[in-house]
This record gives sequence, structure tokens and C-alpha cells, in this order.
Amino acid sequence: MNKILVTGGIGYIGSHTVVALIEQNSEVVIVDNLSNSHLFILDRIEQISDVRPKYYNMDVCNAAQMDELFATEKDIAGVIHFAAYKAVGESVAEPLKYYHNNIGGLVTLLQAMKKYDIKNFVFSSSCSVYGNATQLPVDENCPLQPAESPYGNTKRICEEILVDTTKTGSANVIALRYFNPIGAHESGLIGELPIGQPSNLIPVITQTAAGLRDKITVFGNDYNTPDGTCIRDYIHVVDLADAHVAAVARLIEEKQLQKYELYNLGTGEGVSVKQAIDTFEAATGVKANHYYGPRRDGDVVQIWADCTKANKELGWKTKISLEDAMISAWKWQEEGVRGKE
Ligand code: NAD
Ligand code: WQD
Repeated sequence: MNKILVTGGIGYIGSHTVVALIEQNSEVVIVDNLSNSHLFILDRIEQISDVRPKYYNMDVCNAAQMDELFATEKDIAGVIHFAAYKAVGESVAEPLKYYHNNIGGLVTLLQAMKKYDIKNFVFSSSCSVYGNATQLPVDENCPLQPAESPYGNTKRICEEILVDTTKTGSANVIALRYFNPIGAHESGLIGELPIGQPSNLIPVITQTAAGLRDKITVFGNDYNTPDGTCIRDYIHVVDLADAHVAAVARLIEEKQLQKYELYNLGTGEGVSVKQAIDTFEAATGVKANHYYGPRRDGDVVQIWADCTKANKELGWKTKISLEDAMISAWKWQEEGVRGKE
């Protein structure tokens, strides 16, 4: 049984990955400082998996805590590093908070791993590094654009740090560039629940449908796209979690072709904001009031992924439809999250 350390394992993508790892018989150790998550998610992980993973309330930026962690938890076979801040707008207002946590956390963690000779590392990157992509679909060779936000910049800098680190031989890395993660576990017990007001499309849709918001503002319908609204690649979080299981297995089984590997994770399908809202309404039978408002600053017009590399090398592909993603997000909103907001 491989022991996997998951930083940010109480968060949205982390919790689904913890469940997927347990399903595949890994022993999971979680580190999370609850800066953007809630401890009840640990109970929910246990409810789904019948296993309560070991949990440390520690900060990945705290070198003494990271040292204590690796001194205590021997034989860690791989680390999956989700812990970071992710609110794009907040990163513009408070860039240093983002540079400190996202870059400082990565460096501190890598230093501790080096000391304890733990090499296998999976990193959460983002399609935000592509900006307004010069080709569609976007593959991993597409040139990167200057980041639109300090948040996006942290992901780009972290990738560069990881490239340099692998060159020294002290780490084997798989960086995963997620497109837009959505949906929730089919049980409805875990899902996306950031602290504060969510600004991502799917939580805005489900909160509106639930009556917690008046309406959805669709940010612009005058773009040069078929229906005038922006296009994204929405990937179900459970499919995303499975890719992490595949990535960490690839590292442990020493199947890497290079010490630093990079994969896009999306569905390969572009979906407009209008299509997303229509799909939600059709799949759930629930109305999501919306109107067309002005464009949002910094929005990419359209982006979707070419995931051929991940399909081939990780032996992974997405399985869950957009309809099922909407149904699961709704179940989470209606059942999982009730009383916890
Ligand atoms: P999330 O906020 O739900 O999860 C992150 C978790 O990390 C939270 O539980 C938070 O409490 C914890 N954390 C943050 N800083 C920490 C620290 N210093 N020490 C310990 N724990 C800390 O976010 P998520 O959506 O699950 O995203 C996970 C990762 O994926 C992040 O790195 C994010 O940037 C990246 N990512 C997310 C998306 C997305 O749209 N959700 C897209 C691309 C990339
Ligand atoms: C999706 C689409 C909006 C809300 C962000 C980060 C990115 C990555 C994923 C972490 C866009 C439209 C949204 C609303 C709307 N995260 N929209 N009304 O901006 O693609 O990506 O999350 O790495 O880095 O930037 O996601 O969910 O905010 O928006 O019309 O109320 O929905 O304009 O076209 P985005 P999103």
C-alpha cells in the first residue's frame, strides 16, 4: 500500500482525489490549514470511503511544520500538492498574499522533501498559463502568455521552479494543467465550498437555482463565438481526481519519460456559458435565472484542451458528461452543502 501525502486534501479537488486514492488502496495523509475549506469534509471523506485519512492541520509555508511532518510520516511514496490560494480577483488586490502562499508553500515543501529524500511530486497547475491561447484546442506546446493575474503568474513561476528542481535530480515531477473543474462526488457528500462568495460559473448557477442569488450575470454575449458567450472546457472533478491517481502511479512505477512532465487535463470540448446554463436547466429541470451583462475584465474569450498527451501517457480519459456534472453539482448544492454554507 503506497502512502501518499495530499496537501490541500480537505479542499475541492483535493478531497475528491483523496477519495479516489483510497479507492485505489493508497494510504492517504492530508495536510491542510483550512484556510479555504471546512473540517467536516474529513467526516464526509470517511463516510464515502469507510477510511478516515490521517490529517495534519499544518501550513505548507511553515518549514518547522513540514520538517515535523516528514519526520513523523515515514515512507511517503509521493506527494500531491494542491495547497494554494486560487481566487483570481483577490490575487489582484493582494498579490503578496498569493506569492507568499503559492510560491513560498511550494519552495518550503520541496525543501523538506529534499531533506527527507522524497522525490515524487504532482503539482496543480492551471490552464490560466495559456491566457488567450494562440491555437485551439490548446496542447502543452502552445506558447504561454503573460499571466492575467498574480494568481496565474504564481502557477507559471511554480512550473519554472519545478523545471529547475528536476534538473538537479532532487525531484520527479508531473505538473497538471487543469481546465475548468466542476461538479461534485456522486454521493453529494463532497463538492466545492470555498470560504466566501464563489465567483466561478457553476457555483453561481447552482446558488441562483437554489434561490441564494437573484440571477446569474452572463459576462458578455458579444464575443466572437457561435452564441456570443465565452467558451471553456469544463472537466468533472472526479475525472480530474482520477488523473492524479494515474499521475502519482506513473511516478511511483518509474514510468516517466522525463523527470519533468506536463499534462493538460480537460475534456477536449469547448462549452459556452449559454450552453452551460442550458445544460444545467435541461439536466436538472430547475430554472437558473440569467441575464446578459457586460464583459468581465481579464476573461479569456475561448479555450479548450487538447488532452491527447494525457490520454496516451497517463492512460487516462474523462468519463463523466457535462449533464452528469451539472446533476452532481446540483445534488451537492441541495443536499451536501445544506446548513454548511
Ligand atoms: P481549494 O481552495 O478548494 O483547495 C485548496 C486547499 O488548500 C484548501 O483546503 C486550503 O485550506 C488549503 N491550503 C491553502 N493554502 C494552504 C497552506 N499554506 N497550507 C496548507 N493548506 C493550505 O482549491 P481547489 O479548487 O481544490 O484547487 C486545488 C489546487 O488546484 C490549487 O493549487 C489551485 O490553484 C489549483 N487549480 C484549481 C482550479 C479550480 O478552478 N478549482 C483550476 C486550476 C488549478
Ligand atoms: C467561466 C466562464 C465567465 C461567472 C477561473 C480561473 C482559472 C481557473 C478556473 C484556477 C467565463 C463566465 C462566470 C458568472 C459568467 N482556476 N461567468 N458569470 O474564469 O474560466 O477560470 O477558474 O486555476 O485560473 O481564472 O472560470 O468559472 O469564473 O468562468 O458569465 O457569474 O463563465 O465569464 O466565461 P474562468 P469561471
